[in-house]
Amino acid sequence: MSTHLRRITAIAAAGTLTLALAACGGEGAGSSSTPSPADTGADNGGDDGGTAAPGDGDDSTAGGGAAPAEDMTVGVAMPTQTSERWIADGNSVKEGLEEAGYTVDLQFANDDIPTQSNQIDQMITNGADALIIAAIDGTALSTQLDAAASAGIPVISYDRLIRDSENVDFYVTFDNYNVGVQQATSLLVGLGVLDESGEETGEEGPFNIELFAGSLDDNNAHFFWDGAMDTLQPYMDSGVLEVPSGQTTIQQAATLRWQQETAQRRMEDLLTSSYGGGSEQLDGVLSPYDGLSRGIITALQNAGYGQTIEDGLPVVSGQDAEIASVKLINDDVQYATIFKDTRLLAEQAIISVQAYLQDQEPEANDTETYDNGVKVVPSYLLESEIIYKDNIVSSLVDSGYWTQDEVDSGVSGK
Ligand code: BGC
Repeated sequence: MSTHLRRITAIAAAGTLTLALAACGGEGAGSSSTPSPADTGADNGGDDGGTAAPGDGDDSTAGGGAAPAEDMTVGVAMPTQTSERWIADGNSVKEGLEEAGYTVDLQFANDDIPTQSNQIDQMITNGADALIIAAIDGTALSTQLDAAASAGIPVISYDRLIRDSENVDFYVTFDNYNVGVQQATSLLVGLGVLDESGEETGEEGPFNIELFAGSLDDNNAHFFWDGAMDTLQPYMDSGVLEVPSGQTTIQQAATLRWQQETAQRRMEDLLTSSYGGGSEQLDGVLSPYDGLSRGIITALQNAGYGQTIEDGLPVVSGQDAEIASVKLINDDVQYATIFKDTRLLAEQAIISVQAYLQDQEPEANDTETYDNGVKVVPSYLLESEIIYKDNIVSSLVDSGYWTQDEVDSGVSGK
């Protein structure tokens, strides 16, 4: 397998590569044109005294230590196929890496933690040269990451931060706090408290809202919640917004594994306990993911709130611009979603993994925000955008994310 300089990459930025190799026991001749023992497997990254680890050191490569792409395999672990975004993420990463010449081992884990752990174990055993992981439970992969580290395999945390481990090299994601701000903003726009440019309209309510959060074992759920609550809290304090259920903590609002049915059931329970089974006014729902939004909307429609926003359905936010929800937005059923262009995320993951495989350090644009409990993981953050009915075409169709036919049918043709 190829040699990885993962542990020294921080100090091995281009110019200091030779020095760094010398410092950790190689022979120090690692220039871009001269192969050296350090380049060909005698070094395992500097955190183990230079001892070659299992799966390391069996390839002789010219050119600064990076094996040709054709000789390398990247393991890509995605959480589930129940949400189309993860299928798209997985496929985009796979296609991009294959175009660059790498072999890709792409696995989905059915939202089952042991399945994902086994898949990653298997990737390591099969000699993966790098791993890209979107974790189901961000705290459950320490054993796998330890194994990856001792085999010199760089690990990129994809969209969801892997927590409680030293052995996460890089994180590619969106500005997740801002996603939460955008979710709350779209809810406030739908209620008429803000206009689409984010300005207050002077509307004082009071509006009844309910709050939903994602899965507590997903680090993102906390960022989305914090961004949303920081945005909504001032209006809750001033009485513009009220939460009749009183359920205002993330623990009360959480949805294990982001399950649509769980959100639908909680919405039904809330309607029974706090809204006279649907006879009392509910104006809006903060939902952090389109799948949950659809469960919530089904509960509301079944309780007689109307079929569209025009005929009384509360304003519901979302995330991911899933095609079923984009159609609902187009049809005035769901109010908004957040578009995170997963094509750009996949591209960023590919750029980062290629950097490691070429014995370089990927470029971070955030080195402060994402503390995983053990260290701050260098990150590359992308921007997201609120989608309302009136920018579906300009943002989603014109960019080729969805076709107009897909928007009209609500079904992905990909
Ligand atoms: C992702 C969201 C997604 C959610 C549920 C989060 O980690 O960032 O885009 O909606 O998981 O799949």
